[in-house]
Amino acid sequence: MFANLTAQPADKILALVAAFRADPRETKVDLGVGVYKDASGNTPVMRAVKEAERRIHADQTTKAYTGLAGDPAFADAMIDLVLGDTIARDKIAAVATPGGTGAIRQGLELIKLAAPDATIWLSAPTWPNHPSIVKYLGMNMAEYRYFDSATRGVDFDGMLADLARVPAGDVVLLHGCCHNPTGANLTAAQLEKVIALIKSQGAVPFIDIAYQGFGDGLTEDAQATRTVAQSFDNVLIAASCSKNFGVYRERTGILMGVCKTADETALAQQNMAFLNRQNYSFPPDHGARVVTTILTDPALRADWEAELEEVRRGMLDLRQMLADELRRLTNSDRFDFLADHRGMFSRLGTTPDLVEKLRADHGIYMVSDSRMNIAGLNKTSVPILAKAIVDAGI
Ligand code: LMR
Repeated sequence: MFANLTAQPADKILALVAAFRADPRETKVDLGVGVYKDASGNTPVMRAVKEAERRIHADQTTKAYTGLAGDPAFADAMIDLVLGDTIARDKIAAVATPGGTGAIRQGLELIKLAAPDATIWLSAPTWPNHPSIVKYLGMNMAEYRYFDSATRGVDFDGMLADLARVPAGDVVLLHGCCHNPTGANLTAAQLEKVIALIKSQGAVPFIDIAYQGFGDGLTEDAQATRTVAQSFDNVLIAASCSKNFGVYRERTGILMGVCKTADETALAQQNMAFLNRQNYSFPPDHGARVVTTILTDPALRADWEAELEEVRRGMLDLRQMLADELRRLTNSDRFDFLADHRGMFSRLGTTPDLVEKLRADHGIYMVSDSRMNIAGLNKTSVPILAKAIVDAGI
């Protein structure tokens, strides 16, 4: 049987992890997979996470199953974190999922049950796992323009022109904040225009929010999601805790569905629980319990917010440092966009050949589309990267 298998395409982000590990050069710099690293290159367990784990270890009396939707307290805490009090709780269906990817997958499967012919519109470019999962599920897919490779900002005219072609009932996937892979984001005024357009087309938004707290702040980064949630009868939201709680391997995420009526909420909730049952029965609990413990304890929450804010400010400093260094070396402002971008990533905007040259000549690893993980930099590697970019003739 297995001899009939054909090789699957390698994930270009994950392939970099192995290539980086195998590189013996001491000066190598990993700007590949989206994982935060501190000044010494470690991905630390956050203080509040350690403390929450300690409490769970001490107090937990059972490992019996939770529910198919996960612990309701996790859903309540995450709905509060992402949506605040913008939507009444009885208008939101929600299930815990294995990470943000799990939420994307379950959201797409829910769309498949509700509207099997709907096309999923993705930004060009987007996180490679989006098209990969849509394709794997056999769903229809289309792209809308998003990135202007000349300015390294949003191609807003192109985006509007493409979204104007979206038929009623299709789904538009939007990044809630910190666009992956470009780092270029809509302004609030642009978002209003996108909302009005999608609404007039009769399309349904699906928001992927994986970096809340990494851009302009916890509340600021949730604003676009909240505005969209308030503007439509139905919205899907996939939220990840991997990055902002640093619980990557615990696979902690949530799928939310904003519904029009309480009856619709019950139906969506029942379908989401059914999908969890079909795919893995119960979602993982440990990371969700850690997150719930932090979000519901004022002191732990304050400590988590403080540490997250340090991480966010650290990334902004690295962005500014890199932009300044490139300004100094090139005597031009053409890399200033790096300081304007937000979140973990920036797309440098160069060719796969030059990305390969950076790897071969300087041991600098970034995704072939020239996406750099800014959170993988530190004060030592910034000047090395800047010099390599200039040496490579980018
Ligand atoms: C990334 O884009 O690097 C992260 O979201 C990690 C992943 O799973 O690809």
